[in-house]
Amino acid sequence: MMNFISVNDIDDVQTIVAQALQYKADPFADKGLGAGRRVGLLFLNPSLRTRLSTQVAAANLGMESIVFNVDKEGWALEFAEGAVMNGTTVEHIKDAAPVLGQYFDILCVRTFPSLQNREEDYGEVVINQFVQYAGAPVVSLESATLHPLQSLADIITIQENRLLVSPPGGGGGKPKIVLSWAPHVKALPQCVANSFAQWVGAWGEAEFVITHPAGYELDEKYTANATIITNQDEALQNADYVYVKNWSSYRDYGKIISNDPTWMLTNTKLSLTNHAKVMHCLPVRRNVELSDEILDGSNSLVTQQAGNRVWAAQAVLGEILKSV
Ligand code: CP
Repeated sequence: MMNFISVNDIDDVQTIVAQALQYKADPFADKGLGAGRRVGLLFLNPSLRTRLSTQVAAANLGMESIVFNVDKEGWALEFAEGAVMNGTTVEHIKDAAPVLGQYFDILCVRTFPSLQNREEDYGEVVINQFVQYAGAPVVSLESATLHPLQSLADIITIQENRLLVSPPGGGGGKPKIVLSWAPHVKALPQCVANSFAQWVGAWGEAEFVITHPAGYELDEKYTANATIITNQDEALQNADYVYVKNWSSYRDYGKIISNDPTWMLTNTKLSLTNHAKVMHCLPVRRNVELSDEILDGSNSLVTQQAGNRVWAAQAVLGEILKSV
């Protein structure tokens, strides 16, 4: 693996999930793999989990990591081809990225969409230019439209729980996973939802349903393997996992077109499911996106899920280190 931008950069979901679970069981198994190697973590927006889990993963592999908060500490970057840079941007990505590629063996980049211009965001202008100009492997720590390390951690978490209730050879069927839109006070990207749908589809080990109010349809490129139901109660029937997440409209790009509070998951709604485990990528707005009773209840997987970010990052960095 040379870059990790989406699920399309890996050969097989099962294999990388198994590798991540091996690292969870034995974190320092590849302690020598990253010796003398350095990873740069560039943040164009805030993070808790992605930043720290990737640093822990790098340390487990014996790599040094250096964090650079580009948004706060760096020159304002320009991404437009042919830009006349007489405004607020100071340095073009064509000049900055190759320099960063000289300093680091792997470059990890976190950015967000503008939510203003769908064509630009879905063209992945920022991460693609890092890939184009860095001259070093690039790992997405979330891009304008996808969050692949989060999705890998999500599948790891489902697989772990699935193995608990249905060990290999136990004859268990495919779990039913429901991705359920939730209300939010801000317009958020579609990244986590797009990416989760893409990974569940590539994994092929689940019955997959997406539920959202009409108007929040995701890009069909990601939802081909999903059943889409706009009645949340119907969608939740017999679910084994409910992944709760807000996203803004893809069609009416970046807009909050409705914010019905009854879409927040509660214990009453959870009673429609097959004692479903509840997931969220965090950070979560309590009692807006998800109720206290769910987050503090025994069905919540959110802490385990965030913990698994370490093993997802370690599996990806490890694969790249083996390739370079
Ligand atoms: N889930 C996630 O990406 O969390 P952070 O924004 O804290 O990195």
